Amino acid sequence: MCGIVGYTGKKQAAPILLEGLTKLEYRGYDSAGVAVSDAYGRIEIAKAQGKLDVLKEKIDGGKTMHGACGIGHTRWATHGVPNETNAHPHCNDDSTIVAVHNGIIENYAELKAKLIRRGYQFYSQTDTEVATKLVDYYYKKHGEPLKAIAEFSLRVRGSYALAVLFSDYPEEIYAIRKDSPMVIAATGKECFLASDVPALLKYTKNVYYIENDQIAHLKNGQTSFYNIDGDPVEIPLTHITWDAQAAEKDGYEHYMLKEIHEQPRVIKDTLGYFIQNGKIDFSELNLTDAYLKSVNKIIIAGCGSAYHVGVAMQYVIEDLARIPVRVELASEFRYRSFISDGKELVIIISQSGETADSIAALREAKSRGLKTLAIVNVVGSTIAREADFVFYTKAGPEISVATTKAYSAQLVAGYLIALKFAEAHSLLSDGQYRELLSELCLLPEKIKTILEKDTAIQQFAFHCMDKKNAFFIGRGLDYAVSMEGSLKLKEISYIHSEAYAAGELKHGAISLIEDGTLVFGILTQDELAEKTVSNLEETKSRKAQLAVVAFEGTEVPKSCECVFYVPRTDARFAASLSVIPLQLYAYYLSVSKGNNVDKPRNLAKSVTVE
Ligand code: AGP
Repeated sequence: MCGIVGYTGKKQAAPILLEGLTKLEYRGYDSAGVAVSDAYGRIEIAKAQGKLDVLKEKIDGGKTMHGACGIGHTRWATHGVPNETNAHPHCNDDSTIVAVHNGIIENYAELKAKLIRRGYQFYSQTDTEVATKLVDYYYKKHGEPLKAIAEFSLRVRGSYALAVLFSDYPEEIYAIRKDSPMVIAATGKECFLASDVPALLKYTKNVYYIENDQIAHLKNGQTSFYNIDGDPVEIPLTHITWDAQAAEKDGYEHYMLKEIHEQPRVIKDTLGYFIQNGKIDFSELNLTDAYLKSVNKIIIAGCGSAYHVGVAMQYVIEDLARIPVRVELASEFRYRSFISDGKELVIIISQSGETADSIAALREAKSRGLKTLAIVNVVGSTIAREADFVFYTKAGPEISVATTKAYSAQLVAGYLIALKFAEAHSLLSDGQYRELLSELCLLPEKIKTILEKDTAIQQFAFHCMDKKNAFFIGRGLDYAVSMEGSLKLKEISYIHSEAYAAGELKHGAISLIEDGTLVFGILTQDELAEKTVSNLEETKSRKAQLAVVAFEGTEVPKSCECVFYVPRTDARFAASLSVIPLQLYAYYLSVSKGNNVDKPRNLAKSVTVE
């Protein structure tokens, strides 16, 4: 997820672009850049790696760049490491067409190959340079910006919010979007565009939200809109009621709630990137079928929620790919003199890619000569750079300390890796493979239906404000999700909680159950649910308060005070759905207790110390 801005008017553009990017820096901050065009169409580009301040210093707050029209970008790398070359804006060979982009061009590799065959050369690793040169290709063909951009939109697959400068059209901006946000404003004197409202609120609260595949033309303080056939379209003006601070969260009260609600898109982006033409495409990871076939054991290491993803992956990989999997806390793995036959694959899971214990586990594995695969969300992070193979999740910057969307994206990574191993080991028929992939692609919509029913969860959370202890219990994958539900509750509501394998409770911990202890049961594994229900009843007989997350249609005893149903899916993918009510429950309970949800006490987003 990146941030884009645009301005055309009577003032110097560069300082305005920089100020707009500052308001969007939460969307991505590994590099930034601006392009400014003067009245003669001459376009100047300035880019810098690192936070926005590095660019500001480089162009002296924008004073070194002259022109009343420009575009800018703050980057969250998805293709290519964060450096100045890969930073946006990107341009054609003579800088007569310059663009910034937020999104993912899924078919960029095939488009790049086609452009190379037509004589284009590339200086960066980004999909955005491909997009820019594709616009250039069609501009040379049609000689007209609207048609060039329309043709671009017909050829690319994926998501984009694209803003383009054409030197033949000085002081004008053309823009198009698909699935990535873009908001536009025109005051009669000036025009603005941005990924998000915060960048515009200083100038106006009246904005246009353009729809997918609509093209905007910003010029002389006016903006006109077209469909990709070139027909003018009318877009209603929206009056923004949020203040600037709220707007950074898209109107959500906290980043955590915004990120919980981003999960459908994040999963769609991650699946869309790696599923090409009905097949899982790991070519970017260089994980060949031959290598996948050679792996006879997998070790997964991570911390916190990343570790919980590993526990879930163990069930899925062993079930689908029949490869033994061991899951380790990274902080333990690094000190274990584990026995190795030298053929294990070690998977390190880390949102930040900078967790000290996980880096140490990675280095321990490499010191033993083992191949390593990183599942990370930050391009160019330490773990990403040091691992042999890297699976980049497409969750975008996760601001809230308590992970939600990155956790969900990591789960999806696990499903795809399990399926890839199963395919390489010829364990799935074509029909089974297709059925599982299509079930995966239904997850975003199923998560949306859960999110739409969060009122009951909010009400239940509100009644749990005085709870002192909680248990989350389940069997199999439900146990893995219990771990995540318990951690979410602990880290943001400060209520003590334990995740327990449901069958283990009676071996001691049940002595802790007393009148009013909250026990959350997860019941998505049909063949195990009946036993977990018995365990829940055992706690009920000791006056526990029961809540349950279950697939729609599951019979749940009347003793369960609250039941949160989730749509059915393949049991192996259930964690992606059953975790949602638990995230919401922890969130609303934290809010009702007046805690600092996004920055809980004692915690940091990335634990870079041991
Ligand atoms: C999860 O909500 C916590 N913020 C924490 O457990 C986190 O998952 C853990 O510190 C690992 O972080 P990483 O994924 O960046 O390595």
